[in-house]
Amino acid sequence: MTNATWLARSRAAVWHPCTQMKAHETLPLVPIARGEGAWLYDFDGRRYLDAVSSWWVNLFGHANPRINAALVAQLGELEHVILAGFTHRSVVELSERLSALAPAGLGHAFYGSDGASAVEIALKMAFHAWSNRGRPEKRGFLSLTGSYHGETLGALAVTDVPLFREVYAPLLAPHDKVPSPDPRRTRAANATDAAEQAGEALDAYLREHHDGIAALIVEPLVQGACGMAMYDPRYLVRAREITARYDVLLIADEIMTGFGRTGTLFACEQAGVAPDFLCLSKGITGGYLPLSCVLTTDDVYAAFYDDDPRRGFLHSHSYTGNALACRAALAVLDIFRDDEVIAGNRMRAQRWSVLAEPLTAHRNVRNFRQRGMIIAFDVETTRRDFARWCFSEALAREILLRPIGNTVYFMPPYIVTDDEFALLVERTLEIVERAVQQ
Ligand SMILES: Cc1ncc(COP(=O)(O)O)c(C=O)c1O
Repeated sequence: MTNATWLARSRAAVWHPCTQMKAHETLPLVPIARGEGAWLYDFDGRRYLDAVSSWWVNLFGHANPRINAALVAQLGELEHVILAGFTHRSVVELSERLSALAPAGLGHAFYGSDGASAVEIALKMAFHAWSNRGRPEKRGFLSLTGSYHGETLGALAVTDVPLFREVYAPLLAPHDKVPSPDPRRTRAANATDAAEQAGEALDAYLREHHDGIAALIVEPLVQGACGMAMYDPRYLVRAREITARYDVLLIADEIMTGFGRTGTLFACEQAGVAPDFLCLSKGITGGYLPLSCVLTTDDVYAAFYDDDPRRGFLHSHSYTGNALACRAALAVLDIFRDDEVIAGNRMRAQRWSVLAEPLTAHRNVRNFRQRGMIIAFDVETTRRDFARWCFSEALAREILLRPIGNTVYFMPPYIVTDDEFALLVERTLEIVERAVQQ
């Protein structure tokens, strides 16, 4: 079998995500035969360095032997069981371990499948908790400008990326946005001032509207899909203090930032804050299987604990708490613990920052930024199709990059070697140079 076979069959039978399918008339799909470590291999023997961790999910490489072994062991015991009325070892162990690792007070784990389903769960739970407490008027949600929380209707309603939401706007519940602490969006002198200004704006908004607001949802430290906007932890400190003062719940959407991406296991740790809801997905299974989880507090849990079934959280997905996915997640937590991944990543992040220096120095690179294991920069170019062009130039150089607008970012699996990272930088530099010449 060659690439050509799969190209034609895929275009005929598969509707690919986040894609104008007509674009594939000129931009061929890449059929992947297998993966190993940070590399993906196609059917014609070409390879691609997965610099985006396959949509930000992969942590420890493709075909990781330890996660594979855990899955094989789980397959021999139990693949899946309904989680309503039943439970199993992997889901219990995972829930206990996640609460022990998460910011304090998040002792109740509710499972979904993808990231967006975790966001839906947190939004519904926040509203329902207020309703059960006799405050059903608290049904509004606040999010940041530039926010991204997923593509389902509830998640899209708190998302602020026009490309994804505009067409569906008539279907979306109207929710307000408050200014992002992204320093590039403000006139602040530095990131701390930008965080303070955004904090002031949140305070002013809630002073007036808190009665109707159930929760504020944020992507802690890095707003990914709007272009890797990185902000100061001070904003999270202020947001926690302000939301608590105005009786508004805080939802930390760590679907992208969780599991070490920002340098700590969870981004909230860098601000020393504990949210009321922590949404997790993506890296939770090391990029193996769809699984998401919402951790919440005793207070929220208690608001539902009652004799009346309708006061319970009657939300479900068929694959809630899937045993294989939970076992993959346990294997991921074992790797974090046994290999002291967070400490190792601290050093790795420093080495990446040195290796990426040639990019910081390039005359058309703007706003070079790094938060832990994520590096991003904006390219000044007159190319209107930069993202698409850069994607295909990168593929021609054995690199999988998916720029967002003019923002190029690196978010590779943590196991990428220094040589591989240097190759990534060298080839990206060639592309940036070409983008400027043309
Ligand atoms: C912060 C954040 N929230 C939610 C989502 C949605 O997750 P999923 O694509 O798994 O539904 C994403 C996906 O990129 C995300 O980055």
